[in-house]
Amino acid sequence: MAAETIAPLLTPYKMGNFHLSHRIVLAPLTRQRSYKNVPQPHAILYYSQRTTKGGLLIAEATGVSDTAQGYPDTPGIWTKEQVEAWKPIVDAVHAKGGIFFCQIWHAGRVSNYGFQPNGEAPISCTDKSLTPQIRANGIDVAGFSTPRRLGIEEIPLVVNDFRIAARNAMEAGFDGVEIHGAHGYLVDQFMKDQVNDRTDKYGGSLENRCRFALEVVEAIVDEIGADKVGIRLSPFADYMESADSNPEALGLYMAESLNKYKILYCHMVEPRMKTVGEKFETPHSLLPMRKAFNGTFMVAGGYDREDGNKAIATNYADLVVYGRLFLANPDLPRRFELDAPLNKYNRDTFYISDPVLGYTDYPFLETTE
Ligand SMILES: Cc1cc2nc3c(=O)[nH]c(=O)nc-3n(C[C@H](O)[C@H](O)[C@H](O)COP(=O)(O)O)c2cc1C
Repeated sequence: MAAETIAPLLTPYKMGNFHLSHRIVLAPLTRQRSYKNVPQPHAILYYSQRTTKGGLLIAEATGVSDTAQGYPDTPGIWTKEQVEAWKPIVDAVHAKGGIFFCQIWHAGRVSNYGFQPNGEAPISCTDKSLTPQIRANGIDVAGFSTPRRLGIEEIPLVVNDFRIAARNAMEAGFDGVEIHGAHGYLVDQFMKDQVNDRTDKYGGSLENRCRFALEVVEAIVDEIGADKVGIRLSPFADYMESADSNPEALGLYMAESLNKYKILYCHMVEPRMKTVGEKFETPHSLLPMRKAFNGTFMVAGGYDREDGNKAIATNYADLVVYGRLFLANPDLPRRFELDAPLNKYNRDTFYISDPVLGYTDYPFLETTE
């Protein structure tokens, strides 16, 4: 194949110290198969199926502490047992030449007493509750408990939980961490003015609302080095009643502020993904943030082969992150290379606890070679 016919997504890219062989990234995808918050051996097969030599994978949202959970069976990285359980999963990805980042996460108020130590209230920047919502499976109603507003003196402790989680991720063998600053969870709750009603230095102005996120970034950079740190942001999204009245200003302020810490990458969710799982027509774009940020810029949300190639070809992004398509097509980079047909994803099995079904049983392309 002549070099000029190679699809832009299949071209190599140097992300800091990492030599990526292509630009197709596995999105962080919560799968709720980590029983009692401990990663399980079946994740070895799941992640290694999606590994390519020189490909970047982002692990599912992984709790930073015992207050971080809001869903059943999501993995954590705050105990020795969890760190040890991640090791063989990370090793399997490395054995196939993949680059693996851990998405570290705190759900904040998207939780309830049942997920909290001693049945306490979930923590947040606010004490405003969420209204009950239909869970992503479309059936169960998730009930949320009224959160407890963090005292100003407690905030550094939560920042420190992120720091320790990052240290633990490195101990588990990950190549770096992605701070989950998107989708209405704790870091996003602080940033968005629909949620954050604080009157101290963590609330009010844009600068104050972004303070917590940037303190988390600073702590992690200090702990593991800026060349191993990324962050995911969704300024335009309104998941979990977490919207902002000026998402463009928020996205830009964060992109510019992140430059000071020289972090490896900024990963943003497209404005068209305003509501969970649906694409909207929107006049907004991530281009201003892409231009403002000095490191690697990744985009996610509703991408297919065609518009992913376009995003790279037009320099709109350095890397394109694929969620549902990669979930259902373990060999997505190969399929994109060949422009082969794709397996359809099955929503009903996204979040079930089965160790195989809807998890490691999506077929690979049959090769006739
Ligand atoms: C099953 C499932 C689990 C998800 N879990 C996470 C997660 O843990 N962390 C996160 O930042 N986003 C999560 N997302 C959002 C995806 O990373 C991605 O942004 C979204 O699916 C849109 O991209 P897509 O159109 O390529 O699927 C999840 C999405 C799905 C469908």
